[in-house]
Amino acid sequence: MTENGEAPPLVVLADVNKHFGNLHVLRDINLTISRGEVVVVIGPSGGGKSTLCRTINRLETVDSGTITFDGQPLAAEGRALARLRSEVGMVFQSFNLFAHKTILENVTLGPIKVRGLSRTEAERRGMELLERVDIGAQASKYPAQLSGGQQQRVAIARALAMNPKMILFDEPTSALDPEMVQEVLDVMIGLAAEGMTMMVVTHEMGFARRAANRVVFMAEGQIVEENTPEAFFTSARSERAKDFLSKILTH
Ligand SMILES: Nc1ncnc2c1ncn2[C@@H]1O[C@H](COP(=O)(O)OP(=O)(O)OP(=O)(O)O)[C@@H](O)[C@H]1O
Ligand SMILES: [Mg+2]
Repeated sequence: MTENGEAPPLVVLADVNKHFGNLHVLRDINLTISRGEVVVVIGPSGGGKSTLCRTINRLETVDSGTITFDGQPLAAEGRALARLRSEVGMVFQSFNLFAHKTILENVTLGPIKVRGLSRTEAERRGMELLERVDIGAQASKYPAQLSGGQQQRVAIARALAMNPKMILFDEPTSALDPEMVQEVLDVMIGLAAEGMTMMVVTHEMGFARRAANRVVFMAEGQIVEENTPEAFFTSARSERAKDFLSKILTH
């Protein structure tokens, strides 16, 4: 709690820098994400969007600057790091489900192993989440038997099963056939409406317009500008953003 009794922002990145060898991939990043906020991150390929996501659950370390999550500096190792990972869900472009486990096992594994839930309780809750993303009927199948859109909805249910404080989405719909994009976006729009804190790397402007509180435009490792979705898409200020938008709007 802060002095005035309010909970601190959920995520605060202050002057964060990150290199891969000589490549300066995150440059003086300052970004605050409030509880319940939905931030869409958009920008050209190689700009550092995935790296930014991955620093928040410490899949990547940073060279300088600080990141706090829920009022605490990011844990570096051990149980505290395991807890951070369980509190920050992540959904990737490539689903990343366990291929040799059933859909239900995919959503119960974390809660049983990390949260210590009984199998019965994990399965009850897992089925509830699978119903919620409309996959209940597929619970005993294996990932390869599902469509991409269904697999991505399972990945979201799996993230939710840990009761995360936040979910990071890295291009969750870019590997999907066009007809499956909306079913995944609809689940995400529902989560946003329920107050889940989300950072979403996506070029889906419809999603940004409907669900995002803020759009952050990133290029060459920097946050070039940020604004409400409406203002960003209709009147971007920087040349970089205008140029980027003209490309994604015309293809
Ligand atoms: N593990 C790594 N080792 C070395 N370089 C890396 C590594 N991961 C990313 N990079 C480089 O860092 C830069 C930023 O990559 P990142 O994946 O964060 O960009 P991005 O904005 O997510 O791009 P895209 O839109 O293509 O997904 C790129 O030049 C990339 O090649
Ligand atoms: Mg990326």
